[in-house]
Amino acid sequence: MIEAIYNRRSIRKYLDTPISKDDIIDIINSAMKAPSSKNRQPWKYIVIQGNAKTEMIKAFEKGMLREETKEALLPMSKKHIPAAKYTIEILKQAPVVIFVVNSLQKGMLENLEPEERVYNICNIQSISASVQNMLLSATEKGIGSLWVCDIFFAYKELCDWLNEDGELICAVALGYPDEDPKERPRKKFDDVVEWRN
Ligand SMILES: Cc1cc2nc3c(=O)[nH]c(=O)nc-3n(C[C@H](O)[C@H](O)[C@H](O)COP(=O)(O)O)c2cc1C
Repeated sequence: MIEAIYNRRSIRKYLDTPISKDDIIDIINSAMKAPSSKNRQPWKYIVIQGNAKTEMIKAFEKGMLREETKEALLPMSKKHIPAAKYTIEILKQAPVVIFVVNSLQKGMLENLEPEERVYNICNIQSISASVQNMLLSATEKGIGSLWVCDIFFAYKELCDWLNEDGELICAVALGYPDEDPKERPRKKFDDVVEWRN
């Protein structure tokens, strides 16, 4: 497991090689082993492949166009639009994309009371732990992965396409790697760790 933690990379180039259904099931089972706040297990995983993936990409591209030309949901993130377009190209290549939804929340744009917000933060932490389990389990199988939040550029369109009750949290691309990137830089240990004795 520690080896998987150290060897995991965000993979942005994938081979055509399909991923077996058994491997997808294993990866999702690992995700479901994550801890969750009050054991609420707020996650739902939607596995997108084949024609469904083509439709999903269309919805993503429609959202990007809206974001660029009118009614931007993320006006302060305009500079990240080229990177988000690149993410779409990565998703086109990946044989499997898993959408992860918080099934206990209606939607990101809902107004929440402070206590509901705490619930929501805890649920999102639980889902994040589950997504990390997916990435590590994929790494252990030699399958590459990418955690994707650029979906927020097309949030409305992707939620409409998904037609799910719940809050879309992220997507995870999976595929056999067609690249072997070096470890990306990390902050220095002493810059992020404070000891209080
Ligand atoms: C919450 C989250 C969202 C991310 N969203 C994207 C994304 O939309 N597109 C992308 O190419 N990479 C995305 N990444 C990958 C990061 O860019 C990557 O983890 C970081 O640069 C460190 O590289 P590494 O994963 O290889 O260690 C995301 C990572 C996280 C944790």
